[in-house]
Amino acid sequence: MSNESPSLEEVREAARAKLKGICGVYRICDGQDNRLCQGHSYGSAVGLGGIGSGASFSNNIKALDAIRLKANLIGPDIKPDTAFSFFGRELVMPIMAASAGGNTSFGGDAVISEPAFCTAVVDGCKQAGSLGWRGDSFNYSLENPYGINAIAEAGGWGVQIVKPRDQAVIIAFFKKAEAAGCVAVGVDIDGYGTYAMTHHNQPVFRKSIANLRELVAATKLPVIVKGVMTVADAQAAVDAGAAAIVVSNHGGRVLDHTPGTVEVLPGIAKAVGHKTMVIADGGIRTGHDALKMLACGARAVLVGRDIIRAAVGGGAAGVSAQMRYLKDDLTRAMKMTGCASLGGISPDILC
Ligand SMILES: Cc1cc2nc3c(=O)[nH]c(=O)nc-3n(C[C@H](O)[C@H](O)[C@H](O)COP(=O)(O)O)c2cc1C
Repeated sequence: MSNESPSLEEVREAARAKLKGICGVYRICDGQDNRLCQGHSYGSAVGLGGIGSGASFSNNIKALDAIRLKANLIGPDIKPDTAFSFFGRELVMPIMAASAGGNTSFGGDAVISEPAFCTAVVDGCKQAGSLGWRGDSFNYSLENPYGINAIAEAGGWGVQIVKPRDQAVIIAFFKKAEAAGCVAVGVDIDGYGTYAMTHHNQPVFRKSIANLRELVAATKLPVIVKGVMTVADAQAAVDAGAAAIVVSNHGGRVLDHTPGTVEVLPGIAKAVGHKTMVIADGGIRTGHDALKMLACGARAVLVGRDIIRAAVGGGAAGVSAQMRYLKDDLTRAMKMTGCASLGGISPDILC
């Protein structure tokens, strides 16, 4: 593979070799039954797949697929402007890397070490003008906060999402994130369903509004609540002072048989979009997918599995190539649907 600027095909080819038996790096990544990632027995560890039957994972893809875009071709020439401002940082687009943590889900150190994975995502996003979010896993601790370390090395260019651990532990992570200059912090409330944390004696908890309020009050950074799938939870997060919410089902990894995220997004955006920033993820593989989410009410989107594969296949250069592809594809999709800027994206472009 060429070192400087590998093509996406080169990155994906390298990832396919490294993820042998774990992920087929298929042209379409949809969590269907015949995919390597869903080949585990029902209810066992999920690897890169979805929990249980895989329905939540595949519903994300099916729901996005079911949305149609309207061509809008007659009018003045358009050079789409994808620039996006995120808590004071100027990004080239509203597409960021999702907070996926835990290399043990995709082969462990034999594939990529956790520090190298975090650095690849954070640096690759920064190089491409995007922003890397980092997750949390049972191999993270206050002594080894891999995501925060990578973000600190990148001059604070990143977001740290912490699992719904004990309140005092979350706050200690937030303090470290502040010291690293992170853009924002947050909690994936749906991490309550991550089997691996409990299994490794790192308890996670269901969070109350009071708990979330305490977390918001404990830091001067914007606090993001990730893993919202209902209007009720969205409203509770807003009541607690969340600076943003992420409509997400964790890539279909925590609860079997949920709807696809884009199915619940419009209702949530309508209910709280004027009070907080609504971000969404789940099944986004292209700029066209991102555009659909934006048209359904998201202000920004996150990409999970494709960024993991890019980091494995090409390190920071791979992630940067993936992000550049997403920006080009979003630009193409906006051009063909007549959207000159992000502000021009609305449900009117859907049919
Ligand atoms: C291997 C893996 C690990 C993940 N770890 C985390 C995590 O630590 N924290 C978190 O908020 N979300 C985590 N997620 C969920 C992602 O942030 C994101 O919601 C999801 O991957 C989006 O769906 P997509 O992979 O189809 O793009 C993880 C996802 C995967 C695939």
